[in-house]
Amino acid sequence: MVSLPDFLVRLSPVSDLKAYLKSQQILVDDALKSFLPSVTTRPRAIHQGMRYSIFAGGKRLRPVLTLAAAEACGGDPSAALAPACAVEVMHTYSLVHDDLPSMDDDDLRRGRPTAHKVFGEGMAVLIGDALLTESFTILAQTEPTKRYSLKDFILEFSECGGSKKLIGGQVLDLEGDGQKLTKTQLVRIHENKTAALLTTSLRLGGMTANATPRQLEALTNFGYHLGLAFQVVDDILDVTQSTETLGKTAGKDEAVDKATYPAVLGLEKSKKEAARLTKKALNALPPLGRKGRRLEEIAHSLLDREF
Ligand code: IPE
Ligand code: IPE
Ligand code: MG
Ligand code: MG
Ligand code: MG
Repeated sequence: MVSLPDFLVRLSPVSDLKAYLKSQQILVDDALKSFLPSVTTRPRAIHQGMRYSIFAGGKRLRPVLTLAAAEACGGDPSAALAPACAVEVMHTYSLVHDDLPSMDDDDLRRGRPTAHKVFGEGMAVLIGDALLTESFTILAQTEPTKRYSLKDFILEFSECGGSKKLIGGQVLDLEGDGQKLTKTQLVRIHENKTAALLTTSLRLGGMTANATPRQLEALTNFGYHLGLAFQVVDDILDVTQSTETLGKTAGKDEAVDKATYPAVLGLEKSKKEAARLTKKALNALPPLGRKGRRLEEIAHSLLDREF
């Protein structure tokens, strides 16, 4: 096979990225279908609910990052499928709980009524609990590598989802409702509730490829800034997009006086901040060399996304 010169590879068209994302999403969805208990598993209500929330749609960004990070570190993405699915299942649990009446109280998610609207609030709490538990069952199916034991994978994953990171960020987010926060306080929320899981998604992928400490550090820096940029863009889209495009209720943050980037910095400064953070993410990639190209493309596409 003829290998393309570096500059040509870098200029590969966006349609190529679209096709890549589509194929990775299909790979992840097929794996999720086999990892999750079938809808006929008893008790049926919970397994139907888990599948309803997982297969409602969603960009599958986190698992795609896991697979792309494995490739960026010279690994085989198929070895990263278990952690890729585990991060998507943990993410979906966080959405089910995030939407509950006692949290963001949202009626729409991924273009469908939220889990508590369809199954009732008690059942939605249990669907979230079950997805979180299941995410560990899936993660446990990861093959360890020379540098990383199964314990390393589990600690990476559990710390990210725990009270100091994802849940801690949601706690700060709840406490911030109706408050006038400083930018520093806002960054603290975003780095925990969102950037932590994006970073771990990347790191787990790198770990399946037996990443060197230098590669893992590059993924960590990339993930941190990409994760912050991602939540800034999420806050912006809540203001600028329609409910139909988002698949979740637009204008919700302002309506409930959420502490968001547009609320604290204004829309224009928030857009500049998202671009600045994306640039910082891109600046972390050179240690991965040409293999980091997909991650670069993904970062660009997330800044321009519409939902
Ligand atoms: C929504 O995440 C929650 C945030 C952390 C902003 P996504 O925008 O990735 O949601 P899905 O998975 O595509 O539905
Ligand atoms: C959600 O942030 C973050 C987590 C679920 C951990 P948001 O509350 O902004 O997400 P959306 O806008 O409801 O998707
Ligand atoms: Mg929220
Ligand atoms: Mg929300
Ligand atoms: Mg939001």
